[in-house]
Amino acid sequence: MNKDVLIRLSGISKSFDGETVLDNMDLEIHDKEFITLLGPSGCGKTTTLRIIGGFEVPDAGDVFFDGQRINDLPPYKRQVNTVFQRYALFPHLNVYDNVAFGLRLSHLPKEEVEKRVKEMLEMTGLRGFDARKPSTLSGGQQQRVAIARALVNQPRVLLLDEPLGALDLKLRKDMQNELKRIQHATGITFIYVTHDQEEALSMSDTVVVMSRGKIQQIGTPTDIYNEPVNAFVADFIGESNILDGIMVADHKAKFAGKTFACVDEGFDKNEPVDIVIRPEDVDVVPVKKNGLSGKVSSVTFKGDYYEIIVDINGFKWMIETSDYVAPETTIGLSIEPDAIHVMKKSEYSGMFGDYSTFSEEMDHLSDLDTDEDAEETAE
Ligand SMILES: Nc1ncnc2c1ncn2[C@@H]1O[C@H](COP(=O)(O)OP(=O)(O)OP(=O)(O)O)[C@@H](O)[C@H]1O
Ligand SMILES: [Mg+2]
Repeated sequence: MNKDVLIRLSGISKSFDGETVLDNMDLEIHDKEFITLLGPSGCGKTTTLRIIGGFEVPDAGDVFFDGQRINDLPPYKRQVNTVFQRYALFPHLNVYDNVAFGLRLSHLPKEEVEKRVKEMLEMTGLRGFDARKPSTLSGGQQQRVAIARALVNQPRVLLLDEPLGALDLKLRKDMQNELKRIQHATGITFIYVTHDQEEALSMSDTVVVMSRGKIQQIGTPTDIYNEPVNAFVADFIGESNILDGIMVADHKAKFAGKTFACVDEGFDKNEPVDIVIRPEDVDVVPVKKNGLSGKVSSVTFKGDYYEIIVDINGFKWMIETSDYVAPETTIGLSIEPDAIHVMKKSEYSGMFGDYSTFSEEMDHLSDLDTDEDAEETAE
């Protein structure tokens, strides 16, 4: 990936009606990068995109494009195009004319318009659809038209705000692959917005995790998953057991009533910390005296593994294992030092609890609602 900074947000703040929506945000976006803003509803993702697109003016801070400050540049002069979740196509125009619309406005020669539109229809898998009206297309096909229409103007940057939100799961997966392919083929920088963590991890070069108008973490999908900076990121990305712990000394963490060898260092002696253990990093072993053990409260078959909930000293852990264990039995558990991830305490410490009320549907809903919940708790 080319590491040249293309867009830089510096100290961006924005309030609506006295409510801070973006709080002193700094972000660098590199040329040809696929970068994703990820976070719960209301955290400021769309507002950030709108500021980059020029549809919203920040109260403080600067936006730079290729080193030039562009705060005062109107949207149509920015080398940026947007695909919205509601991709309003012109209903009375056919596919070809929808895609050609912007080029005709800029008075390009007819042959050039034709060449570019054909190329884009090809690229987005819409060859042969030229004469179809939007109302005769499936959701996925309409979305492709919206993408073709945005790309045909050859922007340096494409802003995509939950562009797949309206599609069903299967189509969504197909379109994720399509978008990656199109991004590679065109070399255009994609700034993508989603609240779906799986989508963010699978598509992006870089993920920006946001909560309450602040960036929590910027990193590759692997970094974000393996090294979350705080309990918010650990909870939002994937499944995690988040426990209160004490860093007894370098390479020695105490949690769940036991002391474990770990790889982390540099904390104060006996510093209170948050510990993250991913469900796939706990091994089921025979029960040992003085070892970690717990009682299985539920077992769910997931195809290639079992998801079990285990009660360890009253705290319910989620564990993924390929060995069947029976509900209500007591099992031994073992955790390798490098599977223990230690985090500083933060404003999000203690917010997420254990897996006692877990169900997949609930988990999905709570991902969407995390911010509102947090505000209620704070009151
Ligand atoms: N024009 C506006 N006037 C008043 N409040 C606004 C305006 N635009 C956004 N907000 C508020 O700013 C906050 C952040 O909104 P934003 O649309 O950026 O969130 P988001 O992260 O995109 O959420 P979602 O995932 O639901 O789309 C919300 O509380 C929203 O109500
Ligand atoms: Mg939004």
